[in-house]
Amino acid sequence: MSDQDLNVTEAQIAVHWQEENKFQPAASFIAQANMTDPNIYKRFSLDNFPECFKEYADLLDWEQYWHTTLDTSDAPSWKWFVGGKINASYNCVDRHLEEHRNKAAIIWVPEPEDEPHVVITYQELYVRVNEFAAVLRDSCGLKAGDRVTIHMPMVPELPITMLALARLGVIHSVVFGGFSGKACGERIADSGSKVLITMDGYNRNGTMLDHRRKADEAVETAKAEGQDVEKVLIWRRMRGEYVSEKKMVKGRDYFVDELLQKQKGVRVEPVAMNAEDPLFLMYTSGTTGKPKGCQHSTGGYLAYAAGTSKFVQDIHPEDVYWCMADIGWITGHSYIVYGPLALAATSVMYEGVPGFPDAGRPWRIAEQLNVNIFHTAPTTVRMLRKAGPAEPAKYNFKFKHMTTVGEPIEPEVWRWYYHEVGKGEAAIVDTWWQTETGGFLCSTMPALHAMKPGSAGPAMPGIHPVIYDEDGNPVPPGGTAGNICIQNPWPGAFQTIWGDQDRFVRTYYEKYNKDPESKDWRDWPYFTGDAAVLATDGYYRILGRVDDVINVAGHRLGTKELESACLLVDAVAEAAVVPVADEIKGRVPDIYVALKPGKRGGKRVQDGVVESIETTIGKIARPNNVWIVPDMPKTRSGKIMRRVLASISNGRDVGDVTTLANPDVVEEIRVMVQGEGHGEEAIG
Ligand code: WTA
Repeated sequence: MSDQDLNVTEAQIAVHWQEENKFQPAASFIAQANMTDPNIYKRFSLDNFPECFKEYADLLDWEQYWHTTLDTSDAPSWKWFVGGKINASYNCVDRHLEEHRNKAAIIWVPEPEDEPHVVITYQELYVRVNEFAAVLRDSCGLKAGDRVTIHMPMVPELPITMLALARLGVIHSVVFGGFSGKACGERIADSGSKVLITMDGYNRNGTMLDHRRKADEAVETAKAEGQDVEKVLIWRRMRGEYVSEKKMVKGRDYFVDELLQKQKGVRVEPVAMNAEDPLFLMYTSGTTGKPKGCQHSTGGYLAYAAGTSKFVQDIHPEDVYWCMADIGWITGHSYIVYGPLALAATSVMYEGVPGFPDAGRPWRIAEQLNVNIFHTAPTTVRMLRKAGPAEPAKYNFKFKHMTTVGEPIEPEVWRWYYHEVGKGEAAIVDTWWQTETGGFLCSTMPALHAMKPGSAGPAMPGIHPVIYDEDGNPVPPGGTAGNICIQNPWPGAFQTIWGDQDRFVRTYYEKYNKDPESKDWRDWPYFTGDAAVLATDGYYRILGRVDDVINVAGHRLGTKELESACLLVDAVAEAAVVPVADEIKGRVPDIYVALKPGKRGGKRVQDGVVESIETTIGKIARPNNVWIVPDMPKTRSGKIMRRVLASISNGRDVGDVTTLANPDVVEEIRVMVQGEGHGEEAIG
């Protein structure tokens, strides 16, 4: 039996949708769109690869122009735009001053509705980025190539921090604010950060959370893993007030506003970085326990983020663009910060939860700011549809364009988004991509293609996917599901896993590579870890992960990470985590634990498991159920059959289990979870 059979993948529990009717983009959208030339696909064909990507690189200002488009000598770590020198902060800020000095770069909406919005013009952004860069240089001694971890909520100080670091060539590693201090500490240690930048508190769902308390935990965790954090810089959410209960640690903790006092009016020259120097790390869950730091380049990444923002997000400088993701995820990096700001857009940021204080909130914000491009995840669309299906109609806003990202969207939910939120006029793009890929891989080009609910669409210009079966044979259009891979490199592709090149090659390139010595990109198809089907019209439908990753509300969680958190509970001997279909979140983890001999179960153990998951990872990983089972269903060689547990959790038939070592336990667990009778009905 292969390992594949022991696990259950998201793809295996994917709902099978039928072929859907297409929707045409509105004439009014097409009339103003950035990309209306179908020849773009010819220009970006494999015959013109890699030179075609010059078109994206030329959206940027280069301090020194590059000479080699793609260098494959270090395959499969690709180097793009070699010889080029560039600064990301300069491209997102300085170069817009001449034309757009007084234009809003960032509009920040605090969660409390009575707190005024904060509007930061490009000039103001320039001043704040420079002054903070001076703090980082002078008070922290940071220089190009150093790493800094950022653990902050959705406040304008977050992009300011990123851009200030990028100005110095310091590699930033933003950790999602909702992650626990422990999760943050592990990422600090892995990246070797000596400085942590955080905030004292923020609003979430009507309460001011004490975020600063996570910093102590993070520093302790990093120390235990051998990494000393020398300085913790703390932004204050409320001017002149400190909202945390935690005491400042002398000689380690500093209020940013106080350090800034000394830097009034200081300007810092942007450091010209090599195109292939890293801009940032973004940690994501993988198939083994440890999160991996995806390393993104400066020139290639920024070119790809800018190009896709321009053509797929259809951002013009006069647009008001709102992406409701968190900057702590790749979506926020590429499509709140780097892409939109590289194009001199107005990027809206919202501090809080979409449904606070009610499901009309996003539409009030859209109305008030006259947002015309809206970007969110299916999980949020499902939530808003459930909580306030008629809310969008009550507000006078008009989107020309909307995006969905992060997980498959059900056609029914897509149609609500289209008719109610888009009011039947907005073009929708369903963008499929990953932390690793820097930008979109598949999406319709909004003015060129019809939209098909539930399908991401054709590949992006210059992206050439192939669906392989397990043996490496390409699956033809109209065929069955398989592993979707990308045949060619592209500028947004990550360069390596920080500090673990072997794991990088193994995880992403080994599966379909035939010659590990090859320097030819054709020998290195990129393995995405997703299953997909390709319809005869050239549209891809993504089914979900084929590995041990669960996509919960659009956030990637490794089952191994969850299982190790369960094992921290003293009574727990074994743990297995499986994905369960969920109406709002897409997938949620169901947890099965077996106890050590002589240990008693009950609510204490269940609560212990939940608590351990929350402190090791964060609340987003909260399980659906914790089932305490007498024993795990196992093969005769002792491997836990997660597939069987997943069938039980998803209300499905468990199939033939007679070859297991302990078939009786399966029925016992089934009754515990599904109740008496036969649960053949599939959920979702
Ligand atoms: C899934 C988020 C279906 C997919 C940008 C991928 C999607 C994982 C879509 C990456 C989509 C992302 N349709 N599935 N439009 N977009 N996914 O790294 O399984 O947080 O591998 O990047 O999300 O998640 P990540």
